[in-house]
Amino acid sequence: MSGWTRKDLLGLEELSREELTLLLDQAKAFQEVSLRPIKKVPALRGRTVALCFLEPSTRTRTSFELAAKRLSADILQIQPASSSLVKGETILDTARTLEAMRVEIVVLRHNVSGVPAMVARAIGPSVINAGDGSHEHPTQGLVDLFTILEKKGRIAGLNVLIVGDILHSRVARSNLWGLSKLGARVTVCGPPTLIPQGIESLGAEVSYRLEEPLPKADVLIALRLQLERQKEQYIPSFREYSRLYGIDREKLKGAKPDLIVMHPGPVNRGLELSPEVADGPNSVILEQVTNGIAVRMAVLYLVAGARGERGSVCGRMSW
Ligand code: CP
Repeated sequence: MSGWTRKDLLGLEELSREELTLLLDQAKAFQEVSLRPIKKVPALRGRTVALCFLEPSTRTRTSFELAAKRLSADILQIQPASSSLVKGETILDTARTLEAMRVEIVVLRHNVSGVPAMVARAIGPSVINAGDGSHEHPTQGLVDLFTILEKKGRIAGLNVLIVGDILHSRVARSNLWGLSKLGARVTVCGPPTLIPQGIESLGAEVSYRLEEPLPKADVLIALRLQLERQKEQYIPSFREYSRLYGIDREKLKGAKPDLIVMHPGPVNRGLELSPEVADGPNSVILEQVTNGIAVRMAVLYLVAGARGERGSVCGRMSW
């Protein structure tokens, strides 16, 4: 494969190893743009990116906005509370309205799995999935791959431990697809009620006891307890969850000294991570946030390129 040819980015499941590498290499090339005094390149000048976040977001929405601005695109913000969605307009009609206004790229977050794919089939503009239900969060998966590469210099052969609410986590699914395609060994760990049956088919080992996989781990990704998606009680109490699966300084005594601790955010402090770990020397959580801009610039740039709608700004670099 010589370049990016997809109209949309809907998930990491459908991407090849080469496509993942292309995205990560492009993100590497964009990293330095954010270090310039004037943080802008003209690649998407005259193009319009609509940000449709129909579920709350801080990191993904703001980093897509900054990424689009740094590529010189025009930005439309669709706010659910002040849009015609509250009057009953469907998401498809909203998307077709954006298409009629000649928007080129729609970044869409929705609480129902599969909505970005449905919209992508219905409209000509590119659709980028910014998180759909518990299905996928491909750009967070790419941010995590990029951050691991930055910190460890490789992904193949690393032991990656994903801890927490795997059942409801779109980040876990995107990470599993991306990490396994790039050769990492992935273990998921959490209470049995929060580990979906059949997760092994995505290339993961399963553990219910943190002390078993933790000493081998090179990377630990703690996940947020998705309380807003939990329709029943999955854990006896927060105190018990924190005692068994919360990462604190005591538990890290059994880990490799160069373990990196990641979290997609937002963190429930004291539940998934103790404050000393979230802010401690092993944590790379804020580096994940910083890397989010370069990764999302790469996604917008490559998707626009597949449409023949961008200028050229810089070459690709490899690790
Ligand atoms: N990681 C992530 O999706 O965070 P936000 O919900 O703040 O965008």
